[in-house]
Amino acid sequence: MNLDSLITGFDRGLRTLFAPAATLRPIPGEEMHENQMSAEEKRLSASLMRINHSGEICAQALYQGQAMTAKNPEIAGSLEKASWEETEHLAWTETRIRELGGRKSLLNPFWYVGSLAIGAGVGYIGDRWNLGFLAETERQVERHLASHLTRLPLQDEKSRAIVEQMKIDEVQHATMAVSLGGAELPFPAKIAMKLTSRVMTGITFRI
Ligand SMILES: [Fe+2]
Ligand SMILES: [Fe+2]
Repeated sequence: MNLDSLITGFDRGLRTLFAPAATLRPIPGEEMHENQMSAEEKRLSASLMRINHSGEICAQALYQGQAMTAKNPEIAGSLEKASWEETEHLAWTETRIRELGGRKSLLNPFWYVGSLAIGAGVGYIGDRWNLGFLAETERQVERHLASHLTRLPLQDEKSRAIVEQMKIDEVQHATMAVSLGGAELPFPAKIAMKLTSRVMTGITFRI
């Protein structure tokens, strides 16, 4: 890694954390009506969308870290492209949090740096494992989003539309990683990832 890519990476990090994210696709559910919700329901939706927003911050950092250390330039290119696609998810969740009167997690800089380090570390191990890790991350995110669809208030159709579309995209990211040659991770690694994300989501629900 040279100084140039280090500076570019640092710049990307600052923008991910502090600049409003852009989206090319329209925000899912944008055209829908804002249904009546109680203050309690709004708070729950905002907390769940805050978790999803932090998850997207982590996804960006993971992809960026993995792209920085991927050995094969073609794989690095695909990772780079996927990381840009995740910015749309960032934009959607950020907008929805604002609409619900919530706030983003105060721990995002912390999650970002941690995920960047994990991504870069996994990238060093080798491309097959790098992609395998990515596929497993996306699968776990998909299951996590499915669980949010059972927890979000039924009348919060706007948040639901966003989560539904993100779920579809994450499945595609997992498929991409497998088709590029991702290996199946050993079971203990999957469990460790699950436990880490459980701790992170638990904390982000509040902070
Ligand atoms: Fe995403
Ligand atoms: Fe993804």
